[in-house]
Amino acid sequence: MNPDAQHIPVMLEEVVENLSPQSGGIYVDGTFGGGSYSQAILSAAQCHVVGIDRDPDAIKRGQGLVQKYQNRLSLIPGNFGDIKTLLEEQKIYQVDGLVLDIGVSSFQIDEAERGFSFQKNGPLDMRMSREGESAADVVNNMSQEDIAHILWKYGEEKKSRKIARAIVEDRKEKKFETTFELANLVRSVLKGGEKDPATRTFQALRIYVNKELEELERALEAAEEILRPGGTLVVVTFHSLEDRIVKNFLKTKSGGDANPSRHVPEIENKTSISFKLPSKKAIIVGADEAQKNPRSRSAKMRVAIKVGDIKAI
Ligand SMILES: C[S@@+](CC[C@H](N)C(=O)[O-])C[C@H]1O[C@@H](n2cnc3c(N)ncnc32)[C@H](O)[C@@H]1O
Repeated sequence: MNPDAQHIPVMLEEVVENLSPQSGGIYVDGTFGGGSYSQAILSAAQCHVVGIDRDPDAIKRGQGLVQKYQNRLSLIPGNFGDIKTLLEEQKIYQVDGLVLDIGVSSFQIDEAERGFSFQKNGPLDMRMSREGESAADVVNNMSQEDIAHILWKYGEEKKSRKIARAIVEDRKEKKFETTFELANLVRSVLKGGEKDPATRTFQALRIYVNKELEELERALEAAEEILRPGGTLVVVTFHSLEDRIVKNFLKTKSGGDANPSRHVPEIENKTSISFKLPSKKAIIVGADEAQKNPRSRSAKMRVAIKVGDIKAI
């Protein structure tokens, strides 16, 4: 771990303003990272924060804050998809707020050894939890069709088949071991363009390896169960695949149907309403923040308030 590394939190003020921490409340920071959200929540009220992160480095790094906030901050290693079980293990059954700041932290991207960045040479890893299948396992062992599908589905890569074909051809000579080996291959297949041609391939592999979209869906379902009526859910996302999941979930759960079916009788088309939305629109970063922190430019924040169980009619 690099002791000088840092992560600039995105939309920090908006997160705290919307969570509106109250003394005595319990708030969950489901993506603890460098702990900036947790610290801001703890400073806003005499409350308790449970920080969750699947990256063991984030949990290790956060131990100083656990000491600093004496009994007000607990850190749990784990996946936010398992949030309900993780909280129950701490004998917490309802919370006042939950925030998720989806994606990777600068600590992860900036450390070459984690293998997230095509701009730094390191092992082709990309596992936030350091467990399970790595990006190298995917490109070295999966079929051409499966690799193409991953690049298309999670990277929205139009040339997915061409890249997958080149990967499978190249690995016959030598298996992929490093980020530069893969990035250079993608660049040799796709020339030009504004962004680095390897951007979408790396995004796709990262999302696939960490099952990011599936975990986000599981966390949203869990949020519905663990938030007390009146409790607040805040989700910050960084690309359209993630935001679409949050938007559709909240639309359905607040009484609008994300994908209404003409074939299902009206009454069956309704699900119970569990959230109300202060605004249907996502909050985006202000010009000032976008200028100071370019990484924040694509961020979108959605806020929802848990309501008691109401059946939509
Ligand atoms: C964008 S960073 C959060 C930064 C944090 N808000 C801060 O201010 O420092 C995302 C963090 O969430 C973690 N993470 C991503 N997906 C996760 C998941 N499914 N379960 C738990 N942690 C996850 C990552 O390991 C990373 O540390």
